[in-house]
Amino acid sequence: MTPSLRGRLFVGLTAMVAVTCAAAGFFAFRYAFDEAIEMQDATLTQIAALAIDGRFETKMTPAAPGNGVDAENRLVIEELGRRSDNAAAGGLLLTLDDGLRDVARGRERWRVLIRTRADGSRVMVGQPTSVREEIATASAFHTVVPLLLLVPLMLLVTAILVRQSLRPMTSIAETLDTRRADDLEELALDGVPQELRPFIASINRLLRRIQVMVERQRRFMADAAHELRTPITALTLQAENLDQVVLSQESAERLDALKQGARRTSRLLEQLLTLARHDFDPAVPAAVVELDRCARNVVADLLPESAEKGIDLGFDEIQPCRIDAEPLMIEILIRNILDNALRHTPRGGKIDISVQCGRDGATLTVEDTGPGIPPEDLDRIFEPFFRGTRHQGEGSGLGLSIVKRIVDNLGGVVTVQNVASAGATGLRATVRMPAVIS
Ligand SMILES: Nc1ncnc2c1ncn2[C@@H]1O[C@H](COP(=O)(O)OP(=O)(O)OP(=O)(O)O)[C@@H](O)[C@H]1O
Ligand SMILES: [Mg+2]
Repeated sequence: MTPSLRGRLFVGLTAMVAVTCAAAGFFAFRYAFDEAIEMQDATLTQIAALAIDGRFETKMTPAAPGNGVDAENRLVIEELGRRSDNAAAGGLLLTLDDGLRDVARGRERWRVLIRTRADGSRVMVGQPTSVREEIATASAFHTVVPLLLLVPLMLLVTAILVRQSLRPMTSIAETLDTRRADDLEELALDGVPQELRPFIASINRLLRRIQVMVERQRRFMADAAHELRTPITALTLQAENLDQVVLSQESAERLDALKQGARRTSRLLEQLLTLARHDFDPAVPAAVVELDRCARNVVADLLPESAEKGIDLGFDEIQPCRIDAEPLMIEILIRNILDNALRHTPRGGKIDISVQCGRDGATLTVEDTGPGIPPEDLDRIFEPFFRGTRHQGEGSGLGLSIVKRIVDNLGGVVTVQNVASAGATGLRATVRMPAVIS
């Protein structure tokens, strides 16, 4: 798996923080330790200077807790006498020259400072090495602790920084992901970090190329549909002219099939032209359309067909409602939904239409008593040329994709859902669009 940029940055920066802190901690510890040892040597020197002046009451006894100057530090001052007087009393120490050194006393190692007074008497100031090191370690440790406490804080800051620095990248990806498939508008460069600009510029160049390609395809579709319309119309007319001629049974049957084919082709061309026309100019000059009136007109047009099929087509509820749209597009939208309902509703069935207008916009609902759409087809039902597994009659599978495109351009939402109650089936198509508040 390719490692993520964020992961790589975080691991790299964490390693750097860890190594830097470990090195800094090590050197800080060593430095503070050496300093503490030097300080203790300086203390020994100062105490020796005071002892030489006789400012301490000193004893000749060997060092024992409580016997010296400082019980906790086990600092000991001892009078060693004169070298010539009594070598035995001073023991090994008396044989040593003046100065600071480490010596072994019994099992312990000591750091001692020996000084000789003007009268020849000698004094020793000493401290066990283990005690000195304990004190130095504690003091060095206190230097390192703040550094150690800073490590988690630095890691947290690193994580936040990495996240924040990569935020523009993730937000661009989110913007692209949530776009509509047909939204090919270029990405804005405002506020984009310098490093991402070439990347965005490349995406924009790609979007421009796709735009040109899509435009060419649409133009081709529109031109082809338009060019085919005339010969198909002529073909239909010729076929209808043949109605006047007396034909044999077989010829009449073949003529019917021919007429049906011509009708199917001309419906497909109409749908393709609608789609192409709408795609060409999505920003068609909008006007205020009375949705309720539009719906009434389409229903009036379709009443003869519904009567012929024995379907009860009518309004459940109709409220006055105005929307910003092109009237022809709204008619096409309603016609396509009703056309589907009429095609799938069996004889004796019912189609209820409702137009509602509220604060949240206009809602058009068409509910039929047909078989509904198989659940496995629902996800793809708005795809162009998709007719599902249970389609009926002639059709091109473009109706609902045209509906969706029109609704999308109006900033609305279209949904279809199966409705089943008391053993009856049906489909409910719902279109929600922004309404004009008057
Ligand atoms: N009211 C409905 N009841 C049952 N199935 C439906 C209904 N409306 C649509 N469908 C299913 O959805 C498919 C797609 O509908 P769409 O309107 O896009 O295409 P079409 O009606 O097949 O063709 P066209 O509308 O281009 O003539 C239909 O073929 C049908 O299977
Ligand atoms: Mg249809």
